[in-house]
Amino acid sequence: MCGIVGYVGHRDVAGFLLEGLHRLEYRGYDSAGIAVLQNDEIKVRKKAGRVQELSSELDSNPVQSSIGIGHTRWATHGEATNENSHPHIGGNGEVVLVHNGVIENYIDLRNQLQGLGFVFKSQTDSEVIAHLLAHHLQEQVKLGEDASTKETCLKALELTTRKLNGTYGIVAMFKECSNTIICARAGSPLVIGIGKDEYFLGSDSSPLIGYTEDVVYLSDYEIAILSSDGMEIIHRDSGHQSPSIQTLKQVSADSDLGDFEHYMLKEIYEQPQSIENAMRGRLDEDEATAKFGGLNIDPQQLRKIDRIVLTACGTSWHAGLVGEYLLEEFARIPTEVEYASELRYRNPPMTDNTMVFTITQSGETADTLAAMRECKRKGHPTLAICNVVGSTIAREADGGIYLHAGPEIGVASTKAFTSQVTVLTLLALYLGRMRHLSQPAGSRIIQQLKEIPDIIRKTLKCHEAVKDISERYCHYENFLYLGRLYNFPVALEGALKLKEISYSHAEGYPAAEMKQGPIALVDEKTPSVFIVPRGNIYPKVLSNLEEIKARKGPVIAIACEGDTRIEQLADDVIYVPDVEDYLQPLVTSIPLQFLSYHIALLRGCNVDRPRNLAKSVTVE
Ligand code: AGP
Ligand code: GLU
Repeated sequence: MCGIVGYVGHRDVAGFLLEGLHRLEYRGYDSAGIAVLQNDEIKVRKKAGRVQELSSELDSNPVQSSIGIGHTRWATHGEATNENSHPHIGGNGEVVLVHNGVIENYIDLRNQLQGLGFVFKSQTDSEVIAHLLAHHLQEQVKLGEDASTKETCLKALELTTRKLNGTYGIVAMFKECSNTIICARAGSPLVIGIGKDEYFLGSDSSPLIGYTEDVVYLSDYEIAILSSDGMEIIHRDSGHQSPSIQTLKQVSADSDLGDFEHYMLKEIYEQPQSIENAMRGRLDEDEATAKFGGLNIDPQQLRKIDRIVLTACGTSWHAGLVGEYLLEEFARIPTEVEYASELRYRNPPMTDNTMVFTITQSGETADTLAAMRECKRKGHPTLAICNVVGSTIAREADGGIYLHAGPEIGVASTKAFTSQVTVLTLLALYLGRMRHLSQPAGSRIIQQLKEIPDIIRKTLKCHEAVKDISERYCHYENFLYLGRLYNFPVALEGALKLKEISYSHAEGYPAAEMKQGPIALVDEKTPSVFIVPRGNIYPKVLSNLEEIKARKGPVIAIACEGDTRIEQLADDVIYVPDVEDYLQPLVTSIPLQFLSYHIALLRGCNVDRPRNLAKSVTVE
């Protein structure tokens, strides 16, 4: 997965490409590179590391052109080195390209191309496309075609794509064909921005914001030819297409760090507001229910739903697990939360009245998108709970609910999780009120929800306590996170948060289930983080905590204010406000966000940009 940019027109291209790559860095930050056509020569500048490294390289080694392409990489094949960075040159320098995706048959293709004399400089699957494209161009020339025409280059790219298995967004330039960019996609998104005698390209719309509002989302197997003279779109099989021009929805992006040291911390502190935004205009006190503007589905049809499938990845999957508990408790609809990466290849029985909800912050996660498409293909209504307006999943879903959480920039998801849980609570209320949930029960939920933003404000006050505790625990290498019922997904989420930003190992488990194996890990070097607020099964979780203490495991407890009993059992306690069981994930997840943040800082990790990760996982 990666970010792609491109431009052809009249501006100096390097500035646009660099700015676009900065905006796309959330898709990968292993390396960055650009290529331009300068005086009929292909010039490439690329560097392992962040876009900033490329920027410095360009300061000392500038380029000048008004046509170019760029890439920020999240390595799938080959390490994050200068050689493996994109763009890749093909053949004898006839073509240069960037690629987003994975070519599954790259080994066979590479063997064939090496047999033909092509020399590979990288370990990437992408370089195969570059040489294959050069090969087809050379073949066309042998047949008497002119390498400087768009038609020849288009033909070469078309023949190339027919040999590729896997996913790709490819953006290519040709040495002999000045003033032209040709791009193709299958499975990896590409957006074209239309300006006046100029075209912009991105793997999402973020690089285009501020440059144009007219955009075309390329579809699978379409190839676009862009030059300052115009744009053509050709479907690989069905020929010329008339482009469907859409208006880019510009979302005001509050990407300023303000007084915060990191985006993650800023986003943790934004939660009272982001949760409020998720509820704004959606609470119907008269009817004691929730309401949504964009579900695009008949209430009659909603009443008939007999099964819900929630599908998502990572943190969004954890929110989905909370959603499963909520929907089953309040709406009594059998609900399953499925990893999107599994669901896309599974074939679980689904009734005609199964409704599929995808949950995604970015709206670009490749597995989530593929799972949604698969369910759609089978005729199920697909709705999205999504944060990024205009993202691929938001556009392709039949309807949905936006989180309105504002941009989430830290790779570790924080405010998106609590907003997802909030929206799922509203959804459970809404579907519940269509079925068994009484008016008083609905009203009580609404009153409790209305108090949540203030409760979260109070919860944030645990920050200092968590910071102190983090100093005592930052040297441990293994953690268990344990909780039951609504706090089991919180345990999973807390463990994921710690792993991804501090690189300490952590396992999330249902607190009672740890007796079935993980308890063997417990010793004085393995702390357990127990989520043990007051509630229906408080005494049961306390017994689980005792079982850990009996085996000398250090315990950090997340407990309710005023709980004096816990102090005698746990080594350290973090207090949070007391709320009903079903609202606990909104509250108990916050100290765990702080805990991972501070442990990561103390371990010298890059909190906002952890190693090996990207904000949005756009490859399978
Ligand atoms: C969360 O901290 C992770 N970085 C990751 O698990 C994330 O939640 C996952 O990639 C799903 O992303 P999405 O919500 O944008 O689809
Ligand atoms: N598979 C390609 C690589 O590893 C592209 C990865 C990406 O999409 O960033 O270079």
